[in-house]
Amino acid sequence: MSPHAGRPFVVGNWKMNGLGEGLGEVEAVAAACRGPDLAGVDLALCPPATLLDRARALTQAERRLALGGQDCAVAASGAHTGDVSAEMLRDAGASLVVLGHCERRGAHREDDALVRAKAEAARRGGLLAVICVGETLEERDAGRAERVVAAQVAGSLPPGAGPAGIAVAYEPVWAIGTGRTPSGADVAAMHAVIRRELLSALGPGAERVSILYGGSVKPDNAAALIALDGVGGFLVGGASLRAADFLAIARAASGGGSAP
Ligand code: PGA
Repeated sequence: MSPHAGRPFVVGNWKMNGLGEGLGEVEAVAAACRGPDLAGVDLALCPPATLLDRARALTQAERRLALGGQDCAVAASGAHTGDVSAEMLRDAGASLVVLGHCERRGAHREDDALVRAKAEAARRGGLLAVICVGETLEERDAGRAERVVAAQVAGSLPPGAGPAGIAVAYEPVWAIGTGRTPSGADVAAMHAVIRRELLSALGPGAERVSILYGGSVKPDNAAALIALDGVGGFLVGGASLRAADFLAIARAASGGGSAP
């Protein structure tokens, strides 16, 4: 998939949460997609891979609601016990995949080179790659946040990438799951840095790449965040687990914003 240029894109990342009963939340989001209040936004949910196939059955009629994976292997198939390939995600109903989330960069020691290889795999498998970048609190306090994030963007883009198969999510590590968010000025400044890196790597077509903000996005801060310069949507963790919260964020995004 590629999110529509000029329309906010809101992606829910369920992380390692969700058993079969969670499909009711998927169903509720799918039903709400038909409402006029969500006409201005593209949505995606990334449940655990185990739910993708069942989620597809509930969402396939909804053009504006996509499904995604949370990671993919570099290889398409083979002797890689426990891994799931981009092709398998697509086969199960995904049209995008989140890559380089800080929980993978941290706990699984994924570096930019590996994220880039996975982004290439996503392209091969026909998935939009939502590439996550973001600084730690130490890096921000040391005044290195913009340099760190610029290097992550440059290092994580797949070779020969075009703008069509890429979105970037700026997620400060210290804002994830903490209830803290950066100032509006810091978010806007970082989105401008990311846009500059994308333009220099991909050329003028990079104006169309969606740059999402992620990290403690909630129904009560979404309207202010979407109004910031350069914020083209959200990557939502905890608040995407309940349809009511995810939809409130999506409605805020639908009503404002400076996408992509
Ligand atoms: P959060 O997570 O919304 O729970 O802070 C965001 C993310 O990890 O993508």
